[in-house]
Amino acid sequence: MTLISLLLLAALLPYLSHSASVNVGIINGTEAKPHSRPYMVSLQKHGSHVCGGFLVSEEFVMTAAHCRENEGILTAVLGAHDLSNKQEKGSVRMEVESYYRHPNYNADTVDSDILLLKLRGKAKQSQTVNWMSIPKTNEDIKANSVCSVAGWGRTGSSKPTSKRLMETKITIVAEKECQKLWKNFLTPRMICALHPGGTCKGDSGGPLVCGNTAVGIVSFGQDKCDAPTKPEVFAKISAFLPWIKSIIGKV
Ligand SMILES: *[C@@H]1O[C@H](CO)[C@@H](O)[C@H](O)[C@H]1NC(C)=O
Repeated sequence: MTLISLLLLAALLPYLSHSASVNVGIINGTEAKPHSRPYMVSLQKHGSHVCGGFLVSEEFVMTAAHCRENEGILTAVLGAHDLSNKQEKGSVRMEVESYYRHPNYNADTVDSDILLLKLRGKAKQSQTVNWMSIPKTNEDIKANSVCSVAGWGRTGSSKPTSKRLMETKITIVAEKECQKLWKNFLTPRMICALHPGGTCKGDSGGPLVCGNTAVGIVSFGQDKCDAPTKPEVFAKISAFLPWIKSIIGKV
């Protein structure tokens, strides 16, 4: 193991020691129809996928704050389906010009786990690239609503990440019930969901999609992501609207 990877491991350890672990695949999922989710972004470091993200405007990608712990440089790959195909038709690599981490992000409590990336240049809308709407008001998603998640993360806690975009359905869990299961670890800026599928390492930063709106950002869950006993936790986008607006300007 190189020194760099040891240092990286050391940087990740605080997360692993939690009862929660940060979700960096999709569990119980199926391969997404190529480009059916044109807002999906693969965030990469040195050409390797590290996190998901999603386009919210022609210049901004939304992702989780924990996807960039140590001021690293992320590259956004838009319009991708198969990450093993470096020359995939319709996919575009874009550099990040600036990073906007939520000022209240807390790595210990994983509160306010939201990060906006301003792209260098504007994304061109196409068959494979498009942006996603986010909520307009601070409202709750009804418990038992069936939503979906997608990502290139692991397909099992001891399985590799997926080269092709996977997706699955996931059901919103009532706040109270979730809070009980997580022993009061949650804040009002979180949404819980569980079953029939879920996320795993490598899916962090991707969207929780209800209807045609991204309502949450994949944040954390249990280490064993195959058959979790606690719901997965997402950053609640509607709780951050003033901050998002101050950075993106519109929305
Ligand atoms: C995946 O499906 C199995 C079998 O139905 C179930 O036990 C498990 O909890 C599911 N995993 C997730 C993350 O929903």
